[in-house]
Amino acid sequence: MGKDITHIHGYYSPDDLYGKIIDGLGKLGKDLSKITLDDLQPVDEFHIRGDTATKELIKLAEFTEDMHILDVGCGIGGSTRRLSHETGCRVTGIDLSDEYIDTAANLTELLNMQDKVNFEACSALGLPFEDNSFDGVWSLQMNMNIEDKLAWLKETYRVLKPGGRAIFYEVCGNKNTDLHFPVPWAQDSSMSFLLPQQSFREAISSAGFDIKVWNDKTDLAQKAFSGATKPVGEPSLPILGVYLLVGEDIQSKAYNLHLNLDEECVSLIETVAVKPA
Ligand SMILES: C[S@@+](CC[C@H](N)C(=O)[O-])C[C@H]1O[C@@H](n2cnc3c(N)ncnc32)[C@H](O)[C@@H]1O
Repeated sequence: MGKDITHIHGYYSPDDLYGKIIDGLGKLGKDLSKITLDDLQPVDEFHIRGDTATKELIKLAEFTEDMHILDVGCGIGGSTRRLSHETGCRVTGIDLSDEYIDTAANLTELLNMQDKVNFEACSALGLPFEDNSFDGVWSLQMNMNIEDKLAWLKETYRVLKPGGRAIFYEVCGNKNTDLHFPVPWAQDSSMSFLLPQQSFREAISSAGFDIKVWNDKTDLAQKAFSGATKPVGEPSLPILGVYLLVGEDIQSKAYNLHLNLDEECVSLIETVAVKPA
């Protein structure tokens, strides 16, 4: 039996998330019948370097229109929709959070993309799909919450077709293990499981994948968070932001991520791993 992950599910379970986003779009003066991917970008791309990283990963992935891709740990589906929009491929997103999945589905209907993009709530450790179901896998910054990396990677491998490419854009550990908490993916250490890059590579290979690309993106992450400052007093938050997903202490989380990057506690990688044909 798997470990209890109720606390991780609870962390990613805000109330009425879709309602709050719609409210925010209204406050920003947006016409709901003309919402674009860019309008949602401040809130729906919950990973380091947001849509800039998503666009780089789309190029790296080389997914094409005829493909059906699985987004593992899709959040509220920002990069899921962008991937489909830019390539024409069909994408199924899964996430542990029911609230995120409901929001992802509602936002996708708002953008009228439901023919190509759909969602299902489940754990990445038990995917409700047959073996060899997907042409590609896309997984952005979810591994941090997964203790049993090999179980997750094997499950991902199982549903990917032979010859298929898996894109992982992931936070790893680094030389120092004493992280500052909270961070965007975890309120405390009970939710955060980071492997140093070399161990993460070994886990991907042990699951059966061939690693074709391995890029260390830590310097870009450091630059992205270099301006994060220690919050003082009441938080000053934008109308739309990822704080709607994980709480108003987001500025402390961003500041701690900045410290963790600069003090070599965390690193960031992108990789392309292929299931042998
Ligand atoms: C930092 S967010 C990234 C979301 C999304 N990939 C993005 O880039 O916008 C991490 C996501 O992993 C999901 N997650 C954590 N543990 C999971 C699990 N066992 N199965 C599926 N999703 C999980 C969380 O619910 C959350 O949506």
